[in-house]
Amino acid sequence: MSPSSPGVAQPIAIAASLAEALASAQRVVAMTGAGVSAESGIPTFRDALTGLWARYDPLALATPSAFARQPKVVWDWYAMRRDAIRDVQPNDGHRALVDLERRAPAFLLATQNVDGLHGRAGTRALVELHGNLARVRCSRENRVVERWDEPLDDLPPRCPHCGAFLRPDVVWFDEPLPARALALAEDEASRCDLMIVAGTSAEVHPAASLPLIAKAAGARLVEVNPRETALTPLADDVLRAASGLALPALVRAAWPHDLHAGGSAPPARADGGGAK
Ligand code: APR
Repeated sequence: MSPSSPGVAQPIAIAASLAEALASAQRVVAMTGAGVSAESGIPTFRDALTGLWARYDPLALATPSAFARQPKVVWDWYAMRRDAIRDVQPNDGHRALVDLERRAPAFLLATQNVDGLHGRAGTRALVELHGNLARVRCSRENRVVERWDEPLDDLPPRCPHCGAFLRPDVVWFDEPLPARALALAEDEASRCDLMIVAGTSAEVHPAASLPLIAKAAGARLVEVNPRETALTPLADDVLRAASGLALPALVRAAWPHDLHAGGSAPPARADGGGAK
């Protein structure tokens, strides 16, 4: 299949064997990255450094040492990104994963995205491996804080409980992933029948290990990405298209008789279809 042009809707061919495998899978895991939010207009990590921020290196801002060195600069960068995501909306790719969750007997979505769009779309069985940009926590005690005062001096706001600086509740380079989220994702990856890997370059570990775990355990690996990645040679199926087109097409192909599949929201399953 040739790569699709951005923004041009093209029919996505889904192999019958893939549609059948998805429809009959008992356990499905989806793993997503920045590409899934591209059609919502969220700039990628690197693209986010425009305008006033163009002179900063993202690798030099998203680290504990950057926060120690220049806490206000790091705080302001995340504050700008937090404001930017407030107005964006989930897209058809996010919604297709909600539809999928409602149909698969067991489902987990592990995302590397910090934009919160999967949760806003309605995904319930969700682990945010790299945290969530909308949340703020104490840099000393990790307690999530809902309200704070922006100080007038050139420092980040302080934790109302202990006085330490507040920071975004995201995982920075050189920091471990949240242990429970990672353990759950690894466990589901090792038990799933089918894993969909969408919109990620699959290069940043340990998240990038999840497809390898699934593949080693015998799962069918489906890549959704307009471009080739390091994962492509391992994938059993490759959908070379934007996730906003390919994911709805995949869900529709698996459940062709369900009018709601891959489209508007279907009725919720009796068991809620949440974490299993
Ligand atoms: N649909 C699907 N995939 C897309 C789309 C789209 N519309 N547009 C772009 N992509 C693909 C790109 O081809 C690329 O492979 O999304 C991928 C994005 O890759 P990265 O920018 O590397 O993002 P990600 O894989 O999420 O990065 C992982 O690294 O930057 C850190 O912590 C950050 O969570 C991030 C992690």
